[in-house]
Amino acid sequence: MIYCVCRQINTEKVDFAACNGAKTARCVLAHYGERFNCGKCASSIQERLDAKLAPALPIAAE
Ligand code: FES
Repeated sequence: MIYCVCRQINTEKVDFAACNGAKTARCVLAHYGERFNCGKCASSIQERLDAKLAPALPIAAE
């Protein structure tokens, strides 16, 4: 899935940047030497990052 049409940032690129320390959408683009153009992708990239970086929920013990 393409998250950023302007800079051709897809799911794999967002995840790779996250694995290399990116915690914000701006950091994801910076990881690839880019900056926001229109900025429409910021919230969707951030949602992907938040989901990727969120700790797994513990399973309740019985
Ligand atoms: S869609 Fe990402 S800067 Fe335009």
